[in-house]
Amino acid sequence: MSITPFGALRTHGGGTLRREHAGETVTIAGWVDTRRDHGGVAFLDMRDRTGIVQVVADPEESEALEAAHRVRSEWVLKITGTVRERPEGMVNDRLPTGEIEVAASSVEVLAEADTPPIPIEDGVDVAEEHRLRHRYVDLRRPEMARVLQLRSQATSVIRRVMERHGFLDVETPMLTRATPEGARDFLVPSRLQPGETYALPQSPQLFKQLLMVAGVERYYQIARCFRDEDLRADRQPEFTQLDVELSFGDEEDVFALVEELLAELWSDVLGVEVPTPFPRMGYHEAMRRFGSDKPDLRIAMELADLGEVFADTEVGVFKGALGDGGVVVGLGVPGGAAMTRREFDEWTEWAKRRGAKGLAWGVVEDDGSLRSPLAKFMSDDEIAGVLAATASGPGDAIFFGAGEGHFTRELLGALRVAVAHERGLVDDDRWEFLWITPMALFEPTADGGIKPGNHPFTAPSEEWVDDFADRPLEATSRGYDVILNGTELGGGSIRIHDHALQLKMLEYLGIGDEEAQERFGFLLRALRHGAPPHGGIAFGLDRLVMLLAGRETIRDAIAFPKTQTGSDLMVDAPAPYEAEALKELGLRLAPPPQKG
Ligand code: AMO
Ligand code: AMP
Repeated sequence: MSITPFGALRTHGGGTLRREHAGETVTIAGWVDTRRDHGGVAFLDMRDRTGIVQVVADPEESEALEAAHRVRSEWVLKITGTVRERPEGMVNDRLPTGEIEVAASSVEVLAEADTPPIPIEDGVDVAEEHRLRHRYVDLRRPEMARVLQLRSQATSVIRRVMERHGFLDVETPMLTRATPEGARDFLVPSRLQPGETYALPQSPQLFKQLLMVAGVERYYQIARCFRDEDLRADRQPEFTQLDVELSFGDEEDVFALVEELLAELWSDVLGVEVPTPFPRMGYHEAMRRFGSDKPDLRIAMELADLGEVFADTEVGVFKGALGDGGVVVGLGVPGGAAMTRREFDEWTEWAKRRGAKGLAWGVVEDDGSLRSPLAKFMSDDEIAGVLAATASGPGDAIFFGAGEGHFTRELLGALRVAVAHERGLVDDDRWEFLWITPMALFEPTADGGIKPGNHPFTAPSEEWVDDFADRPLEATSRGYDVILNGTELGGGSIRIHDHALQLKMLEYLGIGDEEAQERFGFLLRALRHGAPPHGGIAFGLDRLVMLLAGRETIRDAIAFPKTQTGSDLMVDAPAPYEAEALKELGLRLAPPPQKG
């Protein structure tokens, strides 16, 4: 015997009923979406996972009619009745079931419901907190139900593609040690070993490398990861990665796999054919042209380096920046001359909030001249040079940033995206995939030091293996990120599989022998037991679903997400814990800081 298609309580899903069912007696069950009571006749729109169907109760079936009078929105009902074609003129084109209705002979109440806390419809205008507190109701809304279905469909495609290429699904531990992905760890104190804690994994990074040493050769996992970091629209403290690692391959294997996977996802889930291979761009080129390591290629604007144009300038802020070894960067905004003085001032304030000393701007007049607070300090040659470099002409605007190179490019890069969104310069109908590779082996830190561009297990590019320490900020790595419309979907690298090189890298990063042994001793030991060349990648599954579903926040891609402050409002977590149980764990929680 096999499971019934709609559950033993029902013969059909309400949303599956069509004209060909006319004349059949059916039993459906679901929620009352809406009820229209016309005294003599009651209409119930019944909703279940398959859709909505109209039920009619009329005086011929008085018991059913009486029950229908009594029910309210979101009650759960079981209804038996006859499918019949709707009379001429009553057909509803907006519903797949719109040609029929179910004439009820019995209406049974399975569960009553309080007044719904939010309307069950798309695009509701209620505070997200309210939705999250009543998530079980929020998820009934059609657009949210669709996201859950889409996510399940996506993981199914992922498994199909990974299995097609011989990847083995292996689970790695949740109770483990700190993984160095750059965020804070979530800790779990140990009862059996007082004074010690587990860390929840920030990623399965070290385990997947160990699986390569173990001879698994091709691994994947849909893995939960935990990172205690500041949350944003595209970040959650607990999120899911599609995690992949392979041996005896190189970058090209990873690129080909990922392109096949993403193309199949977009084709199966959205019916969109994505051209492959994806374009590739080096990290340094991306920073120079777009001021970002995840450029949104739906925006046509590019940054222009104006160092040469202003080499002998009299403009004080530019001269100062260049004299200090910094840069002057321009950003042409097509049609930007329509912006008001006040808007330019607001963008300047925006830049200052991000730590810039200022932002300069100019507008190209109809006669080709530049109107700008700084124009009087610029020579004609400089103005001509600016227009050429920023590809600007009459009707356009130009922003100028001056200062330290990395910071100024990132600032103008962020401005490019913000201005484009504000002024409708983003081509929404496009899917712009992009590989960033090679990556920077190191990135500068705010205090003038360096940190790994990726994680410390990433292999330097062949030509930098021996002398990455000489010019660290120019050195590239065998890392790669895959970007979609300005969002980092995934990232990975070919790893260091050589024990000596791994030690050298850790040492260079200021992780001494003792600390390296203490933190990654198991990895270093494994690298001495026959480690094959290997590399891999991890995708943010939540971000992927968010983009596939066309949602603005990652929270909409997760059934039970957390707020910006890391709370689950529905179950009310985090929460205080019983003092006795804490004692067993050897813990005493400090009282929260007084609220000022
Ligand atoms: P990385 O740290 O780049 O790489 O993470 C991979 C992808 O995971 C997603 N992601 C997140 N999604 C939601 N919320 C978060 N807080 C969050 N943090 C990361 C992003 C990101 O691209 N072990 C390496 C991968 C490797 O080298 O193979 C790693 O974890 O989409
Ligand atoms: P100031 O000399 O500070 O009065 O600035 C003169 C003009 O240059 C103003 O329009 C400032 O907003 C602008 N400005 C100041 N600092 C910078 C900077 N780092 N980059 C670009 N423009 C700047």
